[in-house]
Amino acid sequence: MAPVFTNSNGCPIPGDAFATQRIGKHGPLLLQDFNLIDSLAHFDRERIPERVVHAKGSGAYGVFEVTDDITDVCGAAFLDTIGKKTKVFTRFSTVGGEAGSADTARDPRGFATKFYTEEGNLDLVYNNTPVFFIRDPSKFPHFIHTQKRNPETHLKDANMFWDYLTTNQEAIHQVCILFSDRGTPASYREMNGYSGHTYKWSNKKGEWFYVQVHFISDQGIKTLSNEEAGALAGSNPDYAQEDLFKNIAAGNGPSWTCYVQTMTQEQAKNAPFSVFDLTKVWPHSDYPLRRFGKFQLNENPKNYFAEVEQAAFSPAHTVPYMEPSADPVLQSRLFSYADTHRHRLGTNYTQIPVNCPVTGAVYNPHMRDGHMNVNGNLGSTPNYLDTSKPVEFKQFALQEEQEVWEGAACPFHWKYTDEDFKQATALYNVLKRYPNQQAHLAHNVSVHVAAADAHIQDRVFEMFSKVHPDLGAAIKKETLQLSPRK
Ligand code: HEM
Repeated sequence: MAPVFTNSNGCPIPGDAFATQRIGKHGPLLLQDFNLIDSLAHFDRERIPERVVHAKGSGAYGVFEVTDDITDVCGAAFLDTIGKKTKVFTRFSTVGGEAGSADTARDPRGFATKFYTEEGNLDLVYNNTPVFFIRDPSKFPHFIHTQKRNPETHLKDANMFWDYLTTNQEAIHQVCILFSDRGTPASYREMNGYSGHTYKWSNKKGEWFYVQVHFISDQGIKTLSNEEAGALAGSNPDYAQEDLFKNIAAGNGPSWTCYVQTMTQEQAKNAPFSVFDLTKVWPHSDYPLRRFGKFQLNENPKNYFAEVEQAAFSPAHTVPYMEPSADPVLQSRLFSYADTHRHRLGTNYTQIPVNCPVTGAVYNPHMRDGHMNVNGNLGSTPNYLDTSKPVEFKQFALQEEQEVWEGAACPFHWKYTDEDFKQATALYNVLKRYPNQQAHLAHNVSVHVAAADAHIQDRVFEMFSKVHPDLGAAIKKETLQLSPRK
């Protein structure tokens, strides 16, 4: 049966759907025409705030499966049996651009996955780079603003961009990754995902480990050159969305193999870097990757707005036996995401189907009411936790039984030193193994920094010379060719 066309109140709209009530044929409209007002008023409110970062993205559902026993490291229920499957939803994104911006922009890619486990939703909110630009969370809004638009010109601004990065050089490792061809992945399918941060996992015996998680693409890594990415930004700005959607629709859903690196508290004390420093990687030779699972994305969302735009990921959404570490950037993220979800989607954002735990086990009778409460609001259940009635409290290893922190409250700014260049230099040396990759890094920086003022360019040459003198020299040479000094 064909659907009956109605207004939002369910009342059938009679006759000609496009007719509006007027005084005479060409006279003014009548306020009583609810069908018209209903339609216009809803249209006027279609937009919700886009994500302040990671606004452009693509998402899909899939299935995670445990491939190897990892119960000695983590007691989470969804990992407890080889072969156990858990539904997932992943959203990929660029970071700095607006919702309509080009998918091939030079930018890290977000890689956020929601695991609908029997113990609630676990969100692994990762990037495609194993490190990040900052380790002082207070810098995040400043840093992001320099990657966005100039407040006066409303243009992307090479001066702001490089002014920030040359005065906050702990970012150098991530900047080298960003300006290598890894900064322009060929598709969301052909890139890895990394926790970046150190997290803490514990087993059921109460033993705990610092961990870093890696999702390695089974499609392999493929990147674009700066020029290919630029051309695609013009000819098909939605290139990555199209690639993901069409591959899944054709039954060619991408998959990733999941690995974990572990470190004991003792090993962490002796490591040559801090495990709470998000600008550093853990060398694979010292901390080998251990496989534990695999997930494949195999189902496109039916509705982009409902499922992708309204998806709400947070590093604070976790499950028993998986906890954040003291990494200060991670600690700040624990606040920021749910805060923005309440602003972007409303206080009841976890009731939106894509965000809803599938366990049916949500029992928090004190969390009631609020805008857009649509799930029955727990009916006649008392609106407080009535502990005189039977209620179960689960026991699992807790953070307070793990690390002990002592000291007076103090202000601390984790300033950069030459030590921060070591891993960037190691990366530059590794690039030598891949044809043209050292040259592409120099080229990709040069074409970008050529738009900056001379004094900022000079700082850029100096900074990259600290990674390697050849890199600094190559950038200087090409930049000055592109933007000759008078
Ligand atoms: C202090 C540091 C950071 C802050 C304050 C921050 C804040 C935010 C905010 C407010 C959003 C928008 C969320 C939404 O509207 O739903 C977001 C998105 C995102 N962030 Fe961060 N972020 C930080 C660092 C990081 C880092 C280090 C990573 C990766 C390791 C990361 C990965 C992501 C991803 C993947 C998304 C997109 C999630 C989605 O697809 O909905 N962020 N971030």
